[in-house]
Amino acid sequence: MKKLICIYFSATDTTRMYVDLLSKALGYHAAESVNLADNLAVKLPALSSDDVLVLAAPVYGGRLPQAVAQRFRELKGPGIKSIAMVVFGNRDYDDALLELTDILTEGGFDVIGAGAFVARHSIFPKVAAARPDDEDIRSVTKFAAQCRKTIENGCTGQLKVKGKHPYKKTAAVGLCPVGDPRRCDRCLRCVKKCPVGAISDSDPCKTDSKLCISCGRCISVCPTHTRHYEGVKYKLVGAIFTALFSKRKDAEYVTL
Ligand SMILES: Cc1cc2nc3c(=O)[nH]c(=O)nc-3n(C[C@H](O)[C@H](O)[C@H](O)COP(=O)(O)O)c2cc1C
Repeated sequence: MKKLICIYFSATDTTRMYVDLLSKALGYHAAESVNLADNLAVKLPALSSDDVLVLAAPVYGGRLPQAVAQRFRELKGPGIKSIAMVVFGNRDYDDALLELTDILTEGGFDVIGAGAFVARHSIFPKVAAARPDDEDIRSVTKFAAQCRKTIENGCTGQLKVKGKHPYKKTAAVGLCPVGDPRRCDRCLRCVKKCPVGAISDSDPCKTDSKLCISCGRCISVCPTHTRHYEGVKYKLVGAIFTALFSKRKDAEYVTL
């Protein structure tokens, strides 16, 4: 049976949820699963010709998180079947899925399926708050079935994925979570789990805004729920963003 290798970045677990759903629905032997948010510098698994690769990432500013894209570019897999997946917070995925399929194609992979799926927005969690939901699970299951059929039938070709060249310019969101010193018990989980080392163990309630990529991992791993976004800018942008982007969007996917 084919082996399934999943490589992804998931800071607040929604991309991981979608990768797990896809992986189960594909029904191949799930040999390895690597979340780069656990260790951005981890050695990537070796791939062999009969493997199927799932490569997945959240959408940041309509693109891939750039530190993650850099790691994905190391992957080489001449003729290896692959599936590209991005997860976005109900605004848009702009050029992110195209960027991901381009990376796979440049690495020699045979991209047989590509999909963009919706999840709770990790910065503004009122947006798409209950996603993925049953409808999303149905979509990813259908996508998996189509991918599996494409692989079994040995289809080849080039996918047409939404997005434009040159890609949208990347820009930092300029919002960094901080801790509340009254509630922080200095367990340093946020320090250990931050994928870019933006939180210092000497003062874990602060965040280095030059390093922080606003991924929200420190918020989701904090056992005392002390880390959060704050400030007038966050409240204001959050209110506008929520008003503009709360209308439901659905998954979009293509297969060969
Ligand atoms: C820095 C940053 C930028 C984001 N930009 C977008 C975006 O351009 N479009 C969108 O719909 N969602 C955007 N999101 C929301 C995430 O793509 C979404 O919440 C995703 O599910 C997070 O994945 P994770 O839970 O695996 O970390 C952004 C989130 C972050 C942290």
